[in-house]
Amino acid sequence: MPADSNIQIESVLQEERIFHPSTEAQKQARIKGIDEYRKMFKLADADPDAFWAKAAKEELHWFEPFTKVLDWSNPPFAKWFTDGKTNLSFNCLDRHLLNGNSNKEAIIWEGEPGDIRKFTYKELHSEVCKTSNALKSLGIRKGDLVALYMPMVPEAAIAMLACARIGAPHSVVFGGFSSEALRDRLNDGEAKLVITADGGFRKDKTISLKPSVDAALDNNSCPSVKSVLVVKRTKEEVSIKPGRDYWWHEIVPSQSEECPALPMDSEDRLFVLYTSGSTGKPKGVVHTTAGYNLWSHLTFKWIFDIRDEDVYWCTADVGWITGHSYIVYGPLSNGATTLMYEGVPRPSNPGAFWEVIEKHNVSIFYTAPTAIRAFMKTGRTLPDSYNLESLRLIGTVGEPINPEAWMWYRDVIGRNNCPVVDTWWQTETGGVMISPLPGATPTKPGSATLPLPGIQADIVNAEGDPVAADEGGYLVIRKPWPGMMRTVHGDPKRFRESYWEFIKPDDGSLIYFAGDGARRDKDGYFWVMGRVDDVINVSGHRLGTMEIESALVSHSSVSEAAVVGRVDQIKGEAIVAFVTLENSSNSSDALSNELKEHVGKEIGVIARPAEIKFTDALPKTRSGKIMRRLLRSLASGKEVTGDTSTLEDVSVLEKLRS
Ligand code: PRX
Repeated sequence: MPADSNIQIESVLQEERIFHPSTEAQKQARIKGIDEYRKMFKLADADPDAFWAKAAKEELHWFEPFTKVLDWSNPPFAKWFTDGKTNLSFNCLDRHLLNGNSNKEAIIWEGEPGDIRKFTYKELHSEVCKTSNALKSLGIRKGDLVALYMPMVPEAAIAMLACARIGAPHSVVFGGFSSEALRDRLNDGEAKLVITADGGFRKDKTISLKPSVDAALDNNSCPSVKSVLVVKRTKEEVSIKPGRDYWWHEIVPSQSEECPALPMDSEDRLFVLYTSGSTGKPKGVVHTTAGYNLWSHLTFKWIFDIRDEDVYWCTADVGWITGHSYIVYGPLSNGATTLMYEGVPRPSNPGAFWEVIEKHNVSIFYTAPTAIRAFMKTGRTLPDSYNLESLRLIGTVGEPINPEAWMWYRDVIGRNNCPVVDTWWQTETGGVMISPLPGATPTKPGSATLPLPGIQADIVNAEGDPVAADEGGYLVIRKPWPGMMRTVHGDPKRFRESYWEFIKPDDGSLIYFAGDGARRDKDGYFWVMGRVDDVINVSGHRLGTMEIESALVSHSSVSEAAVVGRVDQIKGEAIVAFVTLENSSNSSDALSNELKEHVGKEIGVIARPAEIKFTDALPKTRSGKIMRRLLRSLASGKEVTGDTSTLEDVSVLEKLRS
């Protein structure tokens, strides 16, 4: 049962508007109309093995065919496409060359300062091969973990594909994480090599990366790391340690353009990506080769209904799962043109997104609700001053989107002319799970609509029983799917316990609990309400309250800390930290700022609390558990409702209120 049984999942939203796919969208789409979607859904449900086998055979190249579709003999540890041999880098590159698409643009990249680089599939193939060979020359072999700590430059995608080509799993660490967070991830995965850059450009400034890598590796604190490969981006002075550090431009370009893709077992590890959960340190989510490839490929094809002439742009960073699945692997596996942009809207160019769409004729645009809400606040004049006519499909990901923002997006950016796809999924799911299909699904503002074919999503109560329509509950997945995470790196017990045993139905069935609360309406549409565990979603970035609390208590002035999210009109949630001090007389604005800085240094700027509230004591139950529900209400300025009888000391609540 979920840890915080005090959490009430309720939904007050009633949304009656409905938008049907236009006849034109329907006519052109691969999946034409809701009946076709339902037919596919039924097929997948009736005979999942046949459904997935057909998809895998049709959509991927196999060096050797698989003999079994799903091995679920040791649940929840799934094996997909047993005995099959494939390679993600081959599927993303070589097969497009073989299909006559060598000269099609694979990546269009624009840097924040406005520099542009483009790669055809042939050019990308050559860059990837050279990089694979460079990695080999640095001693990287199949199974060795390679960490990436990169700005949004083409070399990030090239390095990922180069790793996949030679069977070296990658672990991409978002460039906004601190050197401490990087060090933890390098050590947890026992990375052999780090690929980084001197720095990158962000919001009219440069950010430095290599110095953080140096700090993470200082004093031999990551003994597994033998070498560092450094891309020159900002041209700022960085230190290069002989024998350990190598410039990309000194060793990659001279390599051979030939590097055959290594046939990988379907279940060979493809990557590890760390994400936050309710407890403990961030978890290394493990994805494997064939299942992940199929799921990112198929979902990209279905949801964006990709066509040859499309220019597709996802605004995420490759440091997150969205960047993995929908900047790099999904689009390239489909032979699409994917745009990578280093910048974000910033004081010198608030219309940066719209400028990029206009300049590169972007036809599919995929972004986060936070960005939409920020634009909404500044009004339509700015986007209206750009030509966005090239857009034909727009999507969102990462957080619940409120109907108002959805409508604004559809109207102002989509000119009431583009289907809106609100896609629900997670790092753990590998690819999208619940989303409209543009030519098939009528949409309702704020709803991710219906599960994709093959996905058995449900809403249950804490006992695992399905709840009635329109009743809130826990969003679960009942059957395995190819893109599912395989385990938590180094901690299979945690995988089993946190995802598959959190909700235990009486009949003993295993169901995957995603961490989200949701409801399903009478039409079967899903309305995701957000996390019901101790995870905060700030601007689509997922952070565990416990990590932030640990960072706070590592400061010498802090005795105890409890972190909660409060509603934020733009970011979705903002971080509020309740802190008790070793010496309460020390509370001051200066200390509050120091603590915010401290969290930034320990984890990264994305984890900096918006607010620190000093208090003499935290509200606890008699058994010593912090009553976060009360803190959440207090942080949001709401009346504390519900049972407070288990509070050990009611006066604590009174004091916090005042
Ligand atoms: O709470 C859900 C929210 O983001 C969480 C997953 O975060 P992460 O693993 O970082 O992946 C983000 C990109 C897929 C989910 O548990 N979330 C994601 N998409 C949506 C969403 N919440 C509501 N609606 C969505 N479309």
